[in-house]
Amino acid sequence: MKKKKRSKITPVIGLQWGDEGKGKGVARIASKLSKNDLIVRFQGGNNAGHTIWHKGKPYVFKLIPSGVFGKAQIHLGAGMVINPGALLQETKTIPKNISFLNRISISPHAVLTLPTHILLDSVSEQKKGKKKIGSTGKGISPSYTDLIMRKALRVGDIFHNDFKQKYDKLSLEHKKMLSKIFQYKVKNKELKENEEKFWHGIKFLRKLSVINSAKLTERTLKNGRKIIAEGAQGTLLDLRFGNYPFVTSSHTIASGIGTGLGLAPSSIGGSIGIFKAYTTKVGEGPFPTELGGLKSAVWCRDKNFSHEKEKFYNLDPNSKNEFEQGIALRRLGFEIGAVTGRLRRTGWLDIPLLKYAININNATKLVLTKLDVLNGFKIIKVCTGYIINNKKTAEIPFDLSRENIKCVYKSFPVWKGKLSDYGGKLPKEALRYVKFLEKTLRAEIIYVGTGAEEHHVVERYW
Ligand code: GDP
Ligand code: IMO
Ligand code: MG
Repeated sequence: MKKKKRSKITPVIGLQWGDEGKGKGVARIASKLSKNDLIVRFQGGNNAGHTIWHKGKPYVFKLIPSGVFGKAQIHLGAGMVINPGALLQETKTIPKNISFLNRISISPHAVLTLPTHILLDSVSEQKKGKKKIGSTGKGISPSYTDLIMRKALRVGDIFHNDFKQKYDKLSLEHKKMLSKIFQYKVKNKELKENEEKFWHGIKFLRKLSVINSAKLTERTLKNGRKIIAEGAQGTLLDLRFGNYPFVTSSHTIASGIGTGLGLAPSSIGGSIGIFKAYTTKVGEGPFPTELGGLKSAVWCRDKNFSHEKEKFYNLDPNSKNEFEQGIALRRLGFEIGAVTGRLRRTGWLDIPLLKYAININNATKLVLTKLDVLNGFKIIKVCTGYIINNKKTAEIPFDLSRENIKCVYKSFPVWKGKLSDYGGKLPKEALRYVKFLEKTLRAEIIYVGTGAEEHHVVERYW
C-alpha cells in the first residue's frame, strides 16, 4: 500500500521578547493553506496580543490562532491556558462573514483561568513591589502554577457534573491564599463581573469541538497535511531558557510544541523565526541594548507616561539623546502593548540574543519585520557582541541581570525617504543591512516587513 508522506510541524516563533509580528506572519502563511491544514497555538493564553490587518482593519488575537481569516482548521492546544470569558469575547470581534466555529477545536487538557487566578496575579505582583515582573495581569502564572500543583481545572472537566463543585473549591482555596499569604480580603462584588463572564464562556466552550491535540496533530501529519504552530510571547520570555525570572510561565520555544501538543520531537521541523529590525520589551527585566537605559525602563513603567503624553516629546529619530531616540522609535513603530496598552521599551537589534534564539529554536528561515519603522533614521546600530568583565563575547550569560554588560555596536547608514518609495524593492542600504543579518545569523530572511498590512512585504525566498 502506498503511504502518504508524513509531514512535520512548522513552528513560527518570536526570537526576541514578544511582539515581533508573529500574528502577521501566521496570517500570511495561513492565506496559502487549505481546509485540511491546521494552525495551532501550543502555549500561553490571553497574555498574547497578535495583531493582523484584514481588509484595512486591525484585529488583535489573544487566544484564537491568527490564521482564522484563512481556510485552515484552527486548534487551541493542550499547553494553553484558557480564560473562557475572554475567548467568547474574542470570537465576537471576528466579522460575521468569517465562518470559523465549524473549523475551531480545543484540547481537553488546556487549563482554565479562573477569575481568582486573575486576582492572584495582580495582587501578588503588587506585593512584589520593586521586584515585580511586569505581568500582563491576565492570571497566566497562577493558572500554570495550579497545573504544576496538580489541582488545575481543565477544559475536559467542564463536561462533568462535579465541575461547579470543583470550581467553588478551587476558587475558595484561592481566596484563602489571597487573605492568608497576601493579606488581601476579596470584596463581595469584586469578582462578580469576571465570574459572570467566566460562566458565559463555559457555556460557549461546551459547544466547541473538543479533541486531544496529540490525536489531531498526529492524524494531520500522517495525512501529509501542513501544521503551523503559532508561538506566543518570544524566546527570551521562555520559562526555562528565557531571562528568568522576567519571563512568562510557559515554554515559548519550539520544543514547547512537544509537550504543548503531545508530539514527539521528530515531528517538529525547522522553525520560522520572526524578529523586528530593532528590539522591544514590555515589562521588567534587563535589556542590554535599550535606548536611554534605566531612564527609559522607569519611564515606560510609569503609568502616567502614556503614548498620548509622549506626543509632546521631541520626535527626532536622529536625536543625540538616546532616551529621546528611544521615544522616537517607539512612536514611529507604534510600540504600545496590544494587551495592556503599556509603553514598549525600545532599543537596537541584539545579535547575541538573536543567535541564541535561532539556535534554540532551530530557526532555519527568518522573517525580518518593521524595517519601514527605520525610515527617517540616518544611522542605525546593531549590537554585535557584549563586553562583560573586560572580555568581548557574543554569547549571552546565564543571567543578564547579574552582569554589567556593555554593548559593542556596528553602525549602518539608512536609505533616503521611505521603503515604500522603492517600488517593491529594497534600497541598497536596506539590502546591505538584510544581507549582513543573513550572513551573521546564518539563515535566509524569507521576507522583510515594510508595513503593518499583509501585503506590506518584500519577498526574498518565499
Ligand atoms: P505579535 O505579538 O508578535 O503578533 O506582534 P504584535 O501584534 O503584538 O506587534 C506587532 C505590531 O507591528 C502590530 O501592530 C503589527 O500590525 C505591526 N507590524 C507587523 N509587521 C510590521 C511591519 O513590517 N511594519 C510595520 N510598520 N508594522 C508591522
Ligand atoms: P505576544 O504573544 C510581549 C511579558 C509581560 C511580562 C512577562 C510576564 O503578543 O508576543 P505574564 O502575563 O505572561 O505573566 O507576563 O511577559 N509578556 C509579553 N510581552 N508580548 C507578549 O505576547 C507577552 N506576553 C507576556 O509583559 O513582562
Ligand atoms: Mg503581541
